[in-house]
Order: sequence, then structure tokens, then C-alpha cells
Amino acid sequence: MVTFCDDVLAGLQLPQKSIPSKYFYDRRGSELFEEICNLKEYYIFSSEVEILTARAPELTQVTGRKCNLIELGSGSSVKTKFLLDQLESGSAYVPVDVSQELLEEVTRDLRLTYPELKIHPVAGDFCSSLGHLAEACDKRLGNALFFPGSTIGNFNPDSAEDILRRCRELAGKNGFMIIGVDLVKTKSVLEAAYNDSRGVTAAFNLNLLTRMNEELSACFDLSTFQHSAFFNEKESRIEMHLVSLNSQTIPIAGQQVHFDRDETIHTENSYKYRPEDFIKLAQKCGFSAHLGWTDSKGYFSVFILSSSSE
Ligand code: AVJ
Repeated sequence: MVTFCDDVLAGLQLPQKSIPSKYFYDRRGSELFEEICNLKEYYIFSSEVEILTARAPELTQVTGRKCNLIELGSGSSVKTKFLLDQLESGSAYVPVDVSQELLEEVTRDLRLTYPELKIHPVAGDFCSSLGHLAEACDKRLGNALFFPGSTIGNFNPDSAEDILRRCRELAGKNGFMIIGVDLVKTKSVLEAAYNDSRGVTAAFNLNLLTRMNEELSACFDLSTFQHSAFFNEKESRIEMHLVSLNSQTIPIAGQQVHFDRDETIHTENSYKYRPEDFIKLAQKCGFSAHLGWTDSKGYFSVFILSSSSE
């Protein structure tokens, strides 16, 4: 298994230093992400909730009200409740998340709220567990994957394609995937969402340094790094970086890592799609039909992709 330590040390040796964004989500990071979702600038959460609230009955009509609902990156499962409310007893819910602590807590709460639902939590990185998730499902029921929040945006085009193909495989012949996709829009709206006025996104980004200090005995001084987020139009993605304000050498897991002044650690990509491009990608990955909705501002889309053409 590749550890946080392996990924950090390898990523900090690259010409453009980088750390995979999945490592944001330790306990504190997951809490900060929840806070981000309540920011007025972070339209992603409210737009998706608007769509899911309105469309949950239609979505579950399509998947069938008795199914295996498999959620990739379930976090606090807040958005899932709109769907769970519609499911019939005998359905199964398979939440997958990297934060084991949060997963256990959420599972405990959900079991109280939905006593008829079978819940099979899977702790880990959904990229590496996708192949095994079928084992956590009830074989007699159809599979519906739930991939909200535009998490697909964290993956570069090749990886996004790879994940969607593997999701198509897990969905099976008559399965579905409900996926939230953030759309291309004006730079000012996009950049405000990742540079909020209260500095929560900055704290979320900088928490990665705290995590390295705690888990890898690193010695980052947080006041010597600055949050940066901007829209890279050519790549159609928001990039987040941590900028070193000084030239400095930092011990991390027994190694010495040098940072030039203004050198950055690239911590996240968040790709933004045009609806037609996302649909093309889904079709390329073997999904044959789709329905899609956007919120009233036209900022965000939820699609339901199906693997059969009927
Ligand atoms: C959870 C990956 C969808 O890219 O918008 C929020 C994470 N990063 N603010 C996103 C995030 C900065 C978020 N995703």
C-alpha cells in the first residue's frame, strides 16, 4: 500500500512539487470542507443540493427504489439523505471514504435514521477499492453509483476516463451512475469559490502542512506559506497551491526538502466541464444514455448515466 509518507516524499521531489488532494481529508480537513460547503461563495454545494432536492424522486425512480447505492467519497453523507429518503427497505448503502473516523460516525448516525437500510461502509481511497466494492453489494439488487460534489473534477482527463470506465463496470449491464459535475463559468465566480473572504479555503489548504507536521514529523511553519487558487483557462481547472514565502529547507519524515522563495506545492486541481464535453466523456466510457439537470444559476449539473440503452 502506498502511504501518505510515500506520496508526500515522491511528490515533493518533482520539478513542480505536488501532493495528491485526497490527503486534505483527515479529520480536521473533512471538518473544514464541511465549513467550505456553508460559504456563500462556494456555490458548488448549494447548487447541487438545489438539484438533488428537486430531482431525488425522479432519480430514484430511474435507479429503482430498491437498489445498492454506492457512494464514492461519502464524507458526511449530507447530500445522500435526499436519495436515501426515497429508497425502500432492503436497499443497501455502501459509503466509501478516506476518513475512517468520519465514516464510522456517519454510519452510526445513519443506522439510527434508516433502521431498514443495510449499510456497508468501506474505508479507503475509492480509486483503489472500486474493484472490490461489488463484494459489499447485495447481488440481487441493481447498482447505482453516487459520485456527487464534482469530485470527478479532482482527476485529470486520463484518470477521469479511467475512473468512469471502472464505474461503468461496477454499475453492470443495467446500472446507473448519478454524478455531480461543476461547469465552466466566469473566472470571477470560479475564483471567488476558492478564495473565500473568511479564509476557510486557505485554512483547508494549509491544513495539509499541519497534517505533515503531525503525521510525518515535518517542521512546516504555517506563517511561511500562503494559499493560492486561480482558474487555469487553458486546462479548464482551478488550481490550488501553497506558496513558500521564503527560501527554506524543511525536515519531513527524516528528509530535508528545499523550497525556493515563491516555489509552490500544487495541492489540487478542480476541473470544470462544459456539459457537452462531459456527456462525450461518459459515452466514451461506455455509458449509453443520460439525463441531466442544472441549478437555477446554471452553475452546476447533476447527470444520471445509464449503462443500458433502454
Ligand atoms: C470536494 C473536490 C469537489 O474541488 O471544489 C473545495 C474540494 N477544494 N475547496 C472542489 C475543494 C477547495 C472540492 N471537491
